[in-house]
Order: sequence, then C-alpha cells, then structure tokens
Amino acid sequence: MDRRTIGIALGGVTGRMGYRQHLVRSLLAIREEGGLPLRDGSRLWPELVLVGRSEAKLREIAERHGLTDWSTDLTATLARPDIQIYFDAQVTSQREKALRMAIDAGKHIYTEKPIAEDLAAAVDLARLADGAGLKHGVVQDKLFLPGLRKLDRLVKGGFFGRILSIRGEFGYWVFEGDWQPAQRPSWNYRAADGGGIVVDMFPHWHYVLEQIFGRVNAVTAHVTTHVPTRWDENGDAYEATADDAAYGIFEIEGGVVAQINSSWAVRVYRDELVEFQVDGTEGSAVAGLRNCRIQHRATTPKPVWNPDLPATEDFRSQWQVVPDNEEFDNGFKSQWELFLRHVVEDEPYTWDLWAGARGVQLAELGLQSAREGRRIEVPAL
Ligand SMILES: NC(=O)c1ccc[n+]([C@@H]2O[C@H](COP(=O)([O-])OP(=O)(O)OC[C@H]3O[C@@H](n4cnc5c(N)ncnc54)[C@H](O)[C@@H]3O)[C@@H](O)[C@H]2O)c1
Repeated sequence: MDRRTIGIALGGVTGRMGYRQHLVRSLLAIREEGGLPLRDGSRLWPELVLVGRSEAKLREIAERHGLTDWSTDLTATLARPDIQIYFDAQVTSQREKALRMAIDAGKHIYTEKPIAEDLAAAVDLARLADGAGLKHGVVQDKLFLPGLRKLDRLVKGGFFGRILSIRGEFGYWVFEGDWQPAQRPSWNYRAADGGGIVVDMFPHWHYVLEQIFGRVNAVTAHVTTHVPTRWDENGDAYEATADDAAYGIFEIEGGVVAQINSSWAVRVYRDELVEFQVDGTEGSAVAGLRNCRIQHRATTPKPVWNPDLPATEDFRSQWQVVPDNEEFDNGFKSQWELFLRHVVEDEPYTWDLWAGARGVQLAELGLQSAREGRRIEVPAL
C-alpha cells in the first residue's frame, strides 16, 4: 500500500496533554494502525519531531516509543522543509510565541486551547495564519466525546422540541498539595503563568455551546478563588492568584439559557466529572463524557412538592440510556484525523483558530463580567 508521510513538530510533548492524549493516544495510535487511510487508498504516516526544553526528557520519551527525532531548537526545527505542521501543547503562556514562529516559518498550525492569553493576540494569530494561506486548527476535544456526540445527535434529531436551558456542572477537588500532592500542575493556579479556570474552561464551554446549541450572545459570570494557598511540585507554598471557580450564565441565540459551574474546589456527587442537563419542551437529556440519558415528555413523572413526606419516586431510574449506535474512538485522535485530512485532502474543518479566538473572547468577557459585576454582550469577531 502507498504510504505518504507528513512531518509534524510537537511542542509541549513532555506535558500531561501533549504526551498522553496527543502523542500516545492520537499520533502513535494512528501509526499503530499503519497510518491514516486517505481517499486515494494510500496511508498517511505522521513523522514526528519532539521539540522542548529538556533534551533528556525528550530523548527518554522518544526512546520509550521508538522515535528518533527530537530537538531543543524550535527555530531550527521549523526551518526544516520536511516539517509541514507545528502542534503546540505547551503551557498556555508560551503558546502565542511558538505559534507566531511557526506561522512565520510557513507551517500549518494545530494547537491546544486557549490559543492565546488575550483576544487581540488570538485574532492576530488567526489573521496571520489566514494571510499566510496556512491551514489551522484548535483542539476542541469535548465535541468528540461519546456523551456529547450523543447529545449532539439528539439536538440534530429534534428530540428536545424547543430547547429551554442547559445546566452544566464541571469540576472536582484538586488537592492543595500539602498533605496530598495536587493532581494538576501548579501553573494553573497562578494568574501570571496563564492559569485560571475561566481561561481554561470557558473556551471549552464556548465551542460546546456554539457547535451544539448556537451562538453565545451574552455572558454573566461570578469568578472567585476559593482556595487561596496551594503547594507546588517542590512542596513549597504559593499564593493561588488565579480563579479556581466560575459560575457562569451564557445566553444563546433563540433564547436558550446555559448555566455552567466550573470548579476545582468541589467534591463530586455526579456520575461524571462534567455533566450537562438539557431541558426542552419535548424532552430532557443528561450527558456526560461518555454517557447520555434521556426522559421524554411522555414518560415525565409528576412530582408534587410535599416536604412532610419522604421522596416516593426514584427519579434517576426514570431516565433511559441513549445507545452508542457507533464506535467512538479517542476524541483527540478523531480530531487529529480530521485535521490531517484537512491538511492533505483539503477536507472542510470548522474548528480553526477563529473558533479558538471566539473561545478566548468568551473567557476574556467572562472575566470582565465578573470584575465589573455585570452582564456583557458578545460582539461578533
Ligand atoms: N483539551 C483539554 O482538555 C486540555 C486539558 C488540559 C490542558 N489543556 C491545555 O494544554 C496545555 C498544557 O496543559 P498541561 O496540563 O498538559 O500542562 P503541563 O504542565 O503538564 O505541560 C506543559 C508543557 O509545557 C512545557 N512548558 C512548561 N513551561 C514552559 C516554558 N516556560 N517554556 C516552554 N515550555 C514550557 C512543559 O515542559 C510541558 O511539556 C495548556 O495550554 C492547557 O490549557 C487542554
């Protein structure tokens, strides 16, 4: 079988997302399958160059996975004609600089979110990439998760009738780091290092809302730092200067109201780490990362408020499981495959730097709403 190669430079591959989701679960998984099947019957083989600051760490990862190409010199890597795509999963604060270098070097761009720390930079990156005639994409992994794919199927199939509201609950307890190590990197809790739950999660909520339900017209947010002191990777105490919880209301076109709580200071009494309940005139659904349950209008019980009596109904058992009806691959891998097809076969691709910029915009306006204590309309970019 014919094999075509595509050179991809990977930045931030020693990090949580870069290593596990993008290198191992996506690109190496595509290689394990013999490459990505293309329309002409050939297979696309990703040739990977790991780029980072620590030669020892890069070499260790490369050797662990039988890779031979790594570099601590991004400029030199981007100058290589055999590299067509630059991917970035570095800490957020380092992203803009690397993406600018890659665009200048004429490489297609694929990147983790948020694409930049502020809207002006995000829009500038999208303009530059367009102006240079480059393909670009941003990771919007939640859209490719089984639970949200099933939710999207329900919306497209008209299950809900008129959609009224969406309630999202995201979060879990992130340990402070003193008596048990924190399970997330400490930069996430320092504003100066690009941390904060709004900057991290509002870009996700933006694409979930926009792509499944419609344009986000306005945002009202209350943002806070519940846990003011944390302990870093070395066990040293530091001041948590970034927000660790955000309580947001998003107004969506058509009068739909979405209310999403995001918190790293909440304990989980849910089935999944994120869940969205959607209520419509004809039915409701609760979707998580993997599962989706529905209740149709015809099977909706009629609870009567009476605090003198114990609950007589088992409400959770009154919902029906939405079947998979298809095989769901890893969401990051699915999106990589679409992006690679976009680059080599010119397949359409919705999740570009402009979509990423709208996510950054919502985060920025959410923070402004919290600072000024008011509702803010979201202007078109
Ligand atoms: N799509 C998702 O669901 C998702 C989830 C978590 C994080 N993210 C995003 O992925 C990115 C990485 O997050 P993570 O949790 O993997 O972080 P991480 O701290 O585990 O990894 C960060 C990477 O950046 C590198 N890095 C750190 N400081 C650097 C510096 N000063 N200069 C150059 N490189 C530096 C590290 O070596 C590492 O490779 C963030 O932008 C984050 O917003 C996305």
